[in-house]
Amino acid sequence: DQTRQIAQTLDEFRLSKAQLLEVKKRMRVEIENGLKKKTHDTATVKMLPTFVRSTPDGTENGDFLALDLGGTNFRVLLVRIRSGKRRSVEMHNKIYAIPIEVMQGTGEEVLHHNTIVTFFCNCSFKATDCEGEDVVDLLREGIKRKEEFDLDVVAVVNDTVGTMMTCAYEEATCEVGLIAGTGSNACYMEEMRNIEMVEGDKGRMCVNMEWGAFGDNGCLDDIRTKYDRAVDENSLNEGKQRYEKMCSGMYLGEIVRNILIDLTKRGFLFRGQISETLKTRGIFETKFLSQIESDRLALLQVRAILQQLGLDSTCDDSIIVKEVCGTVSRRAAQICGAGMAAVVDKIRENRGLDHLEITVGVDGTLYKLHPHFSRIMHQTVKELAPKCDVNFLLSEDGSGKGAALITAVGVRQRELEL
Ligand code: BG6
Repeated sequence: DQTRQIAQTLDEFRLSKAQLLEVKKRMRVEIENGLKKKTHDTATVKMLPTFVRSTPDGTENGDFLALDLGGTNFRVLLVRIRSGKRRSVEMHNKIYAIPIEVMQGTGEEVLHHNTIVTFFCNCSFKATDCEGEDVVDLLREGIKRKEEFDLDVVAVVNDTVGTMMTCAYEEATCEVGLIAGTGSNACYMEEMRNIEMVEGDKGRMCVNMEWGAFGDNGCLDDIRTKYDRAVDENSLNEGKQRYEKMCSGMYLGEIVRNILIDLTKRGFLFRGQISETLKTRGIFETKFLSQIESDRLALLQVRAILQQLGLDSTCDDSIIVKEVCGTVSRRAAQICGAGMAAVVDKIRENRGLDHLEITVGVDGTLYKLHPHFSRIMHQTVKELAPKCDVNFLLSEDGSGKGAALITAVGVRQRELEL
């Protein structure tokens, strides 16, 4: 009976192909809403024009300082780009972990921490007081205040776009960027004629989807569980980023924790005792989930990990915990794949093709570290967008390189204008 009740609880997380196709269809509707003038203002998926009009062509040149603020790390990179016969990108970087106080503080605090304000679109940063301000100005001011060096700020780039550009430098068919990490977001090359918010009909422009907000109008409520709602209610931005809260690293652990609390309350786990640890927000980081779900790990090792977290578990507990983790991360990979299927099918239709071959540049700790997420996500895209042949390319050097490439293109264009 206990086994049946646990199975019933987890069943809510198991989505059928029909449900996933429905998620894909709804994403498509929201994409159109974001692109159209009439619906743009109220749209949840914002489809922000990035003014990046093409992927790199190899003529980029120069030395650039790139600051890459991800969900987990802050990277400072010196990027040397050479064009022509010596075409190359050389990078030197320093990586810093981002302390939680900074991640959830004000933009001002972030500046004082020597880090920079490029993160509005990143769910994991609160960066209060910054919204609606020109980030480039804030950044210039922050640098000026330090009075240590002179720097020209050319571009502030969303990490999805940086990731797409990095991969596009190596692989010309890369026209989509995906971050599956602490947060979740995507961008792709959309036809100018479809971007009603920007004047002109020729060519393409990269659109930063801000897809994490998919579902904020309630359109995913039928597949959200009471655990998803609990995670949302306890978050810094209630009601916002509902899709992201179902499929990104920052929240998967929280969904798991909420399920475990419920199962414990019902007496199925941890001898019915809810420990202080289990009550602590954020204990199940992506790296723990990844470890727990690793197939190479024996049950005893899973138990040891839980022990490390301060969760005293029996072998039976460990089996259940592993199953919970697997169910939650599988759904995450599937709905992320459903979103991606909507994107690639739109690109295919844009081009009037029966069949599309395309590359998606990907970054993020969930994609990189989790033992099953990437495989299930790929599989889902294949099933839900059978007319597309999608190749996923890991972004090796982070989006800092992409930001430098965009800057290089920007500088070249500016010099042409002068
Ligand atoms: C990094 C990119 O590798 O991945 C960042 O350089 C990006 O720009 C990050 O934000 C996303 O991953 P995570 O897991 O740190 O959020």
